[in-house]
Amino acid sequence: MSEPAQNGTSPRRERVGVIGAGYVGLVTGVCLASMGYEVTLRDIDAAKVAALNDGQVPIYEPGLTEVMVQQAERLTYTLSLERMLDRSDIVFIAVDTPPTYSGDADLSRVMSVVDELQKVGADPRHILVMKSTVPVGTGERVRAELDARGLDHVGYCSNPEFLREGAAIADFLHPDRVVIGSFADEHADRLASLYAPLGAPVLRTSVPSAEMVKYASNAFLATKISFINEIANVCEEVGADVEVVAHGMGLDSRIGSSFLRAGIGFGGSCFPKDVSALKQLAGNSGYHFQLLTSVIEVNALQKRRVIGKLKKHLGGLEGKRVALLGLAFKPETDDMREASSLVLAARLLAEGAEVCAYDPIVDISPERLHGVIMCESAEAAVAGADAAVLVTEWESIVASDWAALCASMRSPVLIDGRNALDPVEMTRIGFAFEGIGRIPAHVGVPH
Ligand SMILES: NC(=O)c1ccc[n+]([C@@H]2O[C@H](COP(=O)([O-])OP(=O)(O)OC[C@H]3O[C@@H](n4cnc5c(N)ncnc54)[C@H](O)[C@@H]3O)[C@@H](O)[C@H]2O)c1
Repeated sequence: MSEPAQNGTSPRRERVGVIGAGYVGLVTGVCLASMGYEVTLRDIDAAKVAALNDGQVPIYEPGLTEVMVQQAERLTYTLSLERMLDRSDIVFIAVDTPPTYSGDADLSRVMSVVDELQKVGADPRHILVMKSTVPVGTGERVRAELDARGLDHVGYCSNPEFLREGAAIADFLHPDRVVIGSFADEHADRLASLYAPLGAPVLRTSVPSAEMVKYASNAFLATKISFINEIANVCEEVGADVEVVAHGMGLDSRIGSSFLRAGIGFGGSCFPKDVSALKQLAGNSGYHFQLLTSVIEVNALQKRRVIGKLKKHLGGLEGKRVALLGLAFKPETDDMREASSLVLAARLLAEGAEVCAYDPIVDISPERLHGVIMCESAEAAVAGADAAVLVTEWESIVASDWAALCASMRSPVLIDGRNALDPVEMTRIGFAFEGIGRIPAHVGVPH
């Protein structure tokens, strides 16, 4: 394999490889290209690689297409691991680590990369950088596997990723911190230099601590969400407004206002699986993580509270037409992994309701949720409906002409699952309106 170009005494210009061109891998590669690095992305999904080579972006992520087009000359997409290794020095691993049936993280894709590396071989200049979210202990396991397979000369770092889908480019380029766990200082030095142009604080630590920073961060944010959701549920019982309560709490700098939005629970590809994986990791190590058990349970129940609210207004749901507005797990993404809409739709169908849905980007395939009628617009979804649920607070949906939507419904019940709408305004329009943990407008609370 070729050595990287070295220029006299100037620091080596690292070339970047990325294994896995999904939400994280693609954003990582494209952003590093925008920082001036040559990047080669390798995926095993032939259709994805063909699409990328064709200039198509396989995911919806705001701004990604534009940067990909700008940086096209620095970006190479390939199915070949050998080619990627040949063209790179620092190799990010960004394969998926979905949950197994036991709730542990499935590391089969990570380990298959190690298997492949053994076959293809790698040079001493290569550093593997784990961006995938992996349980504490994975880095040590991968290190031992590499050593046992004659790849002890290959470096290894843990470098968890904290980007949010929907804001991934900005998050990658302006991170609150870059966390680097390493077994050898020289590898951490090279990775820190790669990130240096971002000017972000760098936390250098051991591999297990870096791995734990990621899990602990996601678990804490998920805990904040489940906490405010429980406060919202109590607010409904005692006549307080969770939006005011969250605002008041957030003004306290020790608490902060982020992740204090009550709603119908968290979903997505990270929080549910990472919280569960941390809980299992603790359990496997002999510690029962009680708090996370509750965080998970509260989140599961929160999605179902909407069904209770609908029943309160409609009686039974058999034969009732319910419109779901928004399907993605959050706005500005097409990611449907663990989306609350999937649980809601399945529950509604099981109750005998007819479910119509609209999302500006996502189209639920019939295989995924058999029985949901996909509509072309919010107007089409709610026309003739007995109730509507705002599931994902896409700006375009929130900005709908709610008076027109209300007028087109058979019975104007509106559940705001994201507290994105004004209860007073919605009630004035004529909806039987409910948010999550909000005081009904007719109670007449001053704003
Ligand atoms: N999505 C997020 O917001 C986010 C944020 C932070 C961290 N993470 C973590 O990053 C990792 C990747 O997540 P994602 O959302 O990008 O997943 P993804 O499913 O979108 O992408 C994974 C990609 O890896 C590819 N792949 C699998 N095995 C491969 C192999 N052997 N060689 C090459 N490619 C292979 C798949 O084909 C797929 O394209 C996960 O561990 C996740 O927990 C995700």
